[in-house]
Amino acid sequence: MLTDDILSTTLETGIDPGNPDIFKIFLDDLQGNILKGHGRDYSVHLLLRFKATPAEVAAWLEGFTKQYVKSAAQQWQETARYKAERLSGGVWANCLLSCQGYEYLGIPPFKIPTDKPFRLGIKNPDIAQTLGDPSASQWENGFQGDIHALLLLADDDSQHLQNVVSGIADTLEQIADIVQRDDGFILRNAAGQVIEHFGFVDGISQPLFMKSDIDAAKEKDGGFDQWDPRASLDIIVTKDPNGLTEDSFGSYLVYRKLEQNVKKFHTSQQALAQTLGVDNGLAGAMMMGRFQDGSPVVLSDTPIPDNPTTNNFNYDADTAANKCPFHSHLRKTNPRGDTGRVVSSDDVAQALAMEKKHRIARRAVSYGNADLTAAPETGSGLLFLCFQANIENQFNFIQASWSNSANFVKVAVGPDPVIGQPQGTQQWPSQWGAPTREAVSMPLCITLQGGEYFFAPSISFLANLT
Ligand code: HEM
Repeated sequence: MLTDDILSTTLETGIDPGNPDIFKIFLDDLQGNILKGHGRDYSVHLLLRFKATPAEVAAWLEGFTKQYVKSAAQQWQETARYKAERLSGGVWANCLLSCQGYEYLGIPPFKIPTDKPFRLGIKNPDIAQTLGDPSASQWENGFQGDIHALLLLADDDSQHLQNVVSGIADTLEQIADIVQRDDGFILRNAAGQVIEHFGFVDGISQPLFMKSDIDAAKEKDGGFDQWDPRASLDIIVTKDPNGLTEDSFGSYLVYRKLEQNVKKFHTSQQALAQTLGVDNGLAGAMMMGRFQDGSPVVLSDTPIPDNPTTNNFNYDADTAANKCPFHSHLRKTNPRGDTGRVVSSDDVAQALAMEKKHRIARRAVSYGNADLTAAPETGSGLLFLCFQANIENQFNFIQASWSNSANFVKVAVGPDPVIGQPQGTQQWPSQWGAPTREAVSMPLCITLQGGEYFFAPSISFLANLT
């Protein structure tokens, strides 16, 4: 059985499903896509409101799980087969429940996952206030009522995915209404890198759990001497109260549909560049923390030709934030030791260890207009998904206490100019490396269109619901 000690230990080499050892049962019963992204190019998110009897709903979910949902172990086998024989794993699926979904199924309260925000739901006014969100009445219609479940389906072949989804939608009709459907895709730049709508390479920095990911990152970045991305399992999974094995775990998922006003972002970026007298690329890098190609702005005032997407860096040599502003999206959402170095120097290692407990596993995809030249103002954005073991201490903490706060990591640095809400005034280095500051207020370019908190239960629970 996996003890708390094992779960809280950062594994030197990570988990190797080819040689699972004590993790065998765990990997067989945990849904895939949690420890490592599923990697498909197209995805469909079906948000459901149940309408049949609990027994009928349970039977449908059980059948769906047996047919489509894959475990972490199966995900690994598929990847291995793909590498060896180029054989696609086919359709990907996850099945997740909201707190109201558990209640609908008649699961007793003491068996419903206990995370506080999960229990309250993301529409709860206190949660909305904590996160600085617009009230649910301003969201897209589909998000406004009860949401019981999320089915995530994905494939590399978009037509095949559409066919599978329409087959699933037909049978779903008997037990649930699809109150919201969000289609996502991987947006890429001309170089084939994964980007988001503002044009920046995304998904570079993640907590790593698997041996293959750790080996690849180590090789790419020449080691982890500046930043160690490895993480212990207790930041990503938590015991599934309904699991049928001794190592049944699940993970909380935050789902947020974030509309990006691309035109407004580019206009604000240009205005910032003009005010500071720097070039447009550098202004964007000071907002994001990386240049569009991924180069960390703390390392250079121009994109780095070799390995721009390095993740082996920190802010040790920039404690005054003259190169990478404290408010930049990257530094707000992962301060890489700032809380120890900048705020108090009592115990830097302990402060870093605490900070690292707030990390999330991002699984976002883009939606809307895939034309990179379009600069849409509405209708496009990021389906922001992230897994974690504790919503309050991870996603909510990052959004509320770091990104939204004008006073993190120091007084009056201003909110994160990308995702911080409400709008505030940031203190920007007058030039890269300069100790002087210019106050500029970035407008909000991202609007929440709706969302919910979910739990990805163990497969043994979902496959034995009846
Ligand atoms: C990193 C964009 C929303 C948390 C990044 C990166 C980009 C980006 C371009 C750099 C790539 C990387 O280092 O992986 C965006 C956009 C968003 C968005 C356009 C909304 C439309 C969010 C939200 C959160 C978040 C809502 C959490 C509250 C993070 C974290 C990192 C990151 C933790 C990695 C930082 C690091 O480890 O250095 N984001 N992001 N992002 N973002 Fe976001």
